[in-house]
Amino acid sequence: MKSIIVIGAQWGDEGKGKIVDIYSEFADTVVRSTGGNNAGHTLVVKGDKFIFHLIPSGILHPGKRCVIANGVVVDPKVLLAEIGRLKERGYLKDDGQLKVGFLANIIMPYHVVLDRAREEKLGNRKIGTTARGIGPCYEDKVARTGIRACELVQPDTFAEKLRASLELKNFLFKNYYGAGEVPFQATLDEYLEYGERLKPYLMDTSGFLNEEFKRGAKVLFEGAQGTLLDIDHGTYPFVTSSNTTAGGACTGSGVPPTKIGGVIGVSKAYATRVGGGPFPTELFDEEGQGIRDRGNEYGSTTGRPRRCGWFDAPVIRYANRLNGLSGVALTKLDVLSGLPRVKICVAYEIGGVRRDEVPLSLAEFEQAKPVYEQAEGWKEDISAAKEFGDLPKAAQKYVRLLEEVAGVEVSLVSVGPERNQTIVRRNPFRA
Ligand code: GDP
Ligand code: IMO
Ligand code: MG
Repeated sequence: MKSIIVIGAQWGDEGKGKIVDIYSEFADTVVRSTGGNNAGHTLVVKGDKFIFHLIPSGILHPGKRCVIANGVVVDPKVLLAEIGRLKERGYLKDDGQLKVGFLANIIMPYHVVLDRAREEKLGNRKIGTTARGIGPCYEDKVARTGIRACELVQPDTFAEKLRASLELKNFLFKNYYGAGEVPFQATLDEYLEYGERLKPYLMDTSGFLNEEFKRGAKVLFEGAQGTLLDIDHGTYPFVTSSNTTAGGACTGSGVPPTKIGGVIGVSKAYATRVGGGPFPTELFDEEGQGIRDRGNEYGSTTGRPRRCGWFDAPVIRYANRLNGLSGVALTKLDVLSGLPRVKICVAYEIGGVRRDEVPLSLAEFEQAKPVYEQAEGWKEDISAAKEFGDLPKAAQKYVRLLEEVAGVEVSLVSVGPERNQTIVRRNPFRA
């Protein structure tokens, strides 16, 4: 297959960064299409750790082109800091390796203020956002009042749009949220400077990608967040503000769906969630804390402890329905080593009735009690396994059981954060 979309099949943080880094070896071009710096994608390469919020996880491979497409909401300060850190570490020597969409909407300081103020106002009903201004920026985009990357290098247009935006935002901050106002002139000067510094990267990324297809390039799309955080299909309102499902890769990057060869869903061998919202298999006991500790389940973006629970098969079946998965990349199997038995949620019980599918109603999902199947655990350290056959029999059986109850093939098993802690069963670029 020529072009592959990698998406999160659960609630985000499944290990997409690591999987994209692995598949990047076989691709020519790697693209982020949606989300913003709410994402935190971690890569560990020969003991060196990298966390990317905006730059595609293919950037460590010299010569691979990386694209931040129009559907991404870009905080220029965060992007420039990320570029700076990469250069300090000897990467991104050629600026031509990174391309940023002219039409990407820009996260402005008032988006961040609004995100925080709104969450504060919601109190215990808050969404638990990453407070990066993602929702307010997407709102302005849909309201057709957003500021786009190309406008950062058009001073007059930018000034006019900034003035109009601040008029309304500052009115809200002053009169409704009691938050500090955002100054016009200082913001204008600061963001025009960011525009100058980002200029070398700005381009028509949809045009570029379509040219890449013409020359026969292999393109890898890096999803952000996870399926259950999708604005249309997730656990609304406990979702992010973009389409995190596979379709978002096409709309966000301006690439026709007919160019896509396959979709890989990334899932942990258990489940985690950050922020509010339903999570039927959540563990509140020592076993959950054990998974959190062994899996180092603390957010890459905000450092918040992640909620941890057992693998939820209906969620993966739902992800398969929405994304048409060619396979699952199963991560963090090593974290389950040492447990006497492992549990898999195969269905829910809601109001005394067994339900096999993710309920669409939030109230029902909140009441859903997991129906578990148990499988034998394994004691062995599996972090050095190279082949599927190197895994203990009980771990192999667990993976096969997951395939059966989720109804999708596990095409990769990850047994540690490092590149070489990966068992590839089927490479989607070679299928
Ligand atoms: P992403 O947002 O989907 O890219 O995932 P994050 O980077 O937020 O979180 C995944 C975390 O798990 C990172 O710290 C990775 O280094 C780590 N990780 C990925 N795969 C594995 C694995 O198979 N085993 C272990 N122990 N850690 C992993
Ligand atoms: P990656 O790409 C996990 C969650 C937040 C919150 C909700 C809305 O690293 O998997 P937002 O700031 O987007 O308005 O927050 O979505 N969230 C994530 N959870 N991983 C992410 O990204 C997330 N990005 C947003 O915790 O519940
Ligand atoms: Mg993450």
